[in-house]
Amino acid sequence: MYKSIIRPLFFLFQPEFIHKITFTFLKIIFFVPGFRVLISKIYNKNNKALNCTVFGIDFKNPIGLAAGFDKNAELYDELSAFGFGFIEIGTLTPEPQPGNPTPRVFRIPVDKGLINRMGFNNEGLKRAVNRLKKNRSQVIIGGNIGKNKITPNEDAILDYEKGFIALYDVVEYFVVNVSSPNTPNLRALQEKDPLKKLLSRLQVLNSEKVIRKPILLKIAPDLTNEQLDDIIEIVFETKIDGIVATNTTISREGLSISEAEIDKMGTGGLSGSPLKERSTEVIRYLSQKSDKKIPIIGVGGIMTAKDAIEKLEAGASLIQVYTGFIYEGPGIVKNINQELEKRAL
Ligand SMILES: Cc1cc2nc3c(=O)[nH]c(=O)nc-3n(C[C@H](O)[C@H](O)[C@H](O)COP(=O)(O)O)c2cc1C
Repeated sequence: MYKSIIRPLFFLFQPEFIHKITFTFLKIIFFVPGFRVLISKIYNKNNKALNCTVFGIDFKNPIGLAAGFDKNAELYDELSAFGFGFIEIGTLTPEPQPGNPTPRVFRIPVDKGLINRMGFNNEGLKRAVNRLKKNRSQVIIGGNIGKNKITPNEDAILDYEKGFIALYDVVEYFVVNVSSPNTPNLRALQEKDPLKKLLSRLQVLNSEKVIRKPILLKIAPDLTNEQLDDIIEIVFETKIDGIVATNTTISREGLSISEAEIDKMGTGGLSGSPLKERSTEVIRYLSQKSDKKIPIIGVGGIMTAKDAIEKLEAGASLIQVYTGFIYEGPGIVKNINQELEKRAL
């Protein structure tokens, strides 16, 4: 029903407009008595065989919703009813910011891809924290943190510190996002020295807490092998808990549309099917080079159960979807879980 009726209808409108409408609709319809139970019954797979423990956290299944979908922690509870094992909110910056001018998200249906240059549009830490304080749901929440556009890279650590401190009580794990292509210069923070400083500082804050929370690093798929080697070294050195691989790519490889159509969309990060191979390659490289010692959340172009299994076989312990959720609909979570369940038997 999603692919034959809902998706064609959604795709008549601008992606961001439909995102907002869907959020409003879901918020309202979940108030209808019995709706949540019904959705949970349809989409959830409560099989112990799917349970997994990664970086010290128990997940009911390994499939998460990637960052950017519920940036402001508005809908994680309702979204969890669709069967996700975890939901990553954010990227949140300390202060609210509007992001780039619209339109800033573009669909490429023939390639099952999206290009976005959102630019960390979000309502800021305070509002998200207030929502998360009211969290009654059981779902594992990850907090993806970034820096405000106006904060120069020299002061970026302060923004990430603010994110860590504000979200500490309301999320189960953290993701340090230095890999979005849509905030000018942000990815320079993936370089060895600034990255080491940033992660070391967050680890100091973490160790001052009675219970430390896992900190992961989200990386771009556009890094060279040498840069990936540096990342592995830094992960071991700073003893952070894992890597999220990967964010969107600045490459336009794998697209079948014309150069003119690509140019018309402009700058931004490409996600979905065209990203799949590269993100799996990065996961495999990190896993092999680190002797499987670094937990990896695999994300990028997962559209089917087969894609998910490829990521897990390449070395991911958990996976996330974003673009696949748009193209395949909520059934994607159940489909993947069902396949994993079969394999566990
Ligand atoms: C519209 C859009 C917004 C996104 N916003 C964020 C974000 O705020 N923070 C982040 O870490 N990743 C963000 N991402 C990247 C996704 O979390 C994910 O890493 C990427 O899209 C690859 O996965 P996919 O191919 O399943 O979409 C965004 C992706 C899209 C398509």
